[in-house]
Amino acid sequence: MSQLIVRGGRRLEGETEIQGAKNSVLPILAATLLTAGQVELRGCPRLRDVDASVRILEGLGCTARWEGADVLVVDTQNLSGCAISEALMREMRSSAIFLGAILARCGEAELSYPGGCELGPRPIDLHLSGLRDLGAEIDDAGGVLHGRAPRLQGREIVLSLPSVGATENLMLAACGASGVTTITGAAQEPEILDLQNFLSACGAKVSGAGTSTVSVEGGRPLRGCTYTVMPDRIVAATYLCAAASAGGEVFLRRAREEHLSTVTAVLREAGCAIRSDGRGIACVCRERPNAVHPVRTAPYPGFPTDAQAILMAALLRCRGAAMFEENMFENRYRHVGELARMGAGIQVSGRTAVVTGVKRLHGAPVRCTDLRGGAALCVAALAAEGETEISETGHIARGYEDIARDLRNLGAYAAWAGE
Ligand code: UD1
Repeated sequence: MSQLIVRGGRRLEGETEIQGAKNSVLPILAATLLTAGQVELRGCPRLRDVDASVRILEGLGCTARWEGADVLVVDTQNLSGCAISEALMREMRSSAIFLGAILARCGEAELSYPGGCELGPRPIDLHLSGLRDLGAEIDDAGGVLHGRAPRLQGREIVLSLPSVGATENLMLAACGASGVTTITGAAQEPEILDLQNFLSACGAKVSGAGTSTVSVEGGRPLRGCTYTVMPDRIVAATYLCAAASAGGEVFLRRAREEHLSTVTAVLREAGCAIRSDGRGIACVCRERPNAVHPVRTAPYPGFPTDAQAILMAALLRCRGAAMFEENMFENRYRHVGELARMGAGIQVSGRTAVVTGVKRLHGAPVRCTDLRGGAALCVAALAAEGETEISETGHIARGYEDIARDLRNLGAYAAWAGE
């Protein structure tokens, strides 16, 4: 696996384009199964998780091909199977999202359980109980999920917590159910609105995404379409944090501040000047960051758990202290030990982490523990004196097309080993 070399200590100056959103494109790829036709996805990011989704689609008899840098054409007309192998399920933890779509299209599905991941247990009980509410029979014995749904029937489903994946899974299943499905207590993330927009472009009748109640009028035949994936708000947050960490002036084309206003609010408090317009977000950071109020992760519109490690890395040199509270996943401070190797002062106690700002960070050999933890190491390395060698970067490839390219566009020294 490739190593990433970052030489820190230089201010950033430059601009880069924000790739399409991973968390949007993955459910959209599952949703292509609902159309017995051809879908052209524009702004599709080239990611390991997208490759894994493509292999799942191919395993089901569909075809997919890249046209140019960022257009993926998927044809699901000749779907021939309804089972996903365990090896493919293990490659990507969010593969459970295929369950609702396969059940809606085939009336039957067989998937292995996605199981836990680097962030801790990843239960899918809400996905399963919602699908059962719609009339699916799901047997989940022995790590294999076997679902049968000769006829899905729309109804009201109440989610006890706003799970992103469960909301999306149920939206997809509901497209294949007769009658109206209402999901209350739905997650409100922008990616759910993107999924609704995609489904609408295919001819579905879905409304309410972006609020806590989503309605789907199911049973309509869906057609293929051409659709542009929304920009990735966590990638945008990463590069804003990169500017806060190293100092400098960056412009992120396509980034949309309305998707990451809790992140920009903290960066403004830290002293960054941020402006945005229809073209993107500009960020200027001149000084060491200020201390900030406690940052508590929460479902959208709260502070995103996916930006926690990245913001923490940007605040390692803050003047004072910064407190973090992680409320979404159990195991989301694994990056802390690696940041400590670079001279960071962080104390973790349960779900709380307190950063005591240090004047200097230094380069060190470090290891990615997970996707966003890996991005956090890059952000910290930009502010560290000397060279940081980041290994196990396969985690980063799950969510960033080419983080070294983007950081170079922003004026950093970042290169893959051997590049
Ligand atoms: C999605 C995102 C991920 C992000 C997360 C939270 C994708 C592909 N991934 O993951 O990047 O970190 O949202 O914003 O979009 N839960 C249950 N039972 C369930 C489902 C979830 O207890 O059936 C719990 C989870 O353990 C977690 C919380 O609900 O504590 C939120 O999880 P969820 O919103 O489902 O996250 P994902 O959809 O897996």
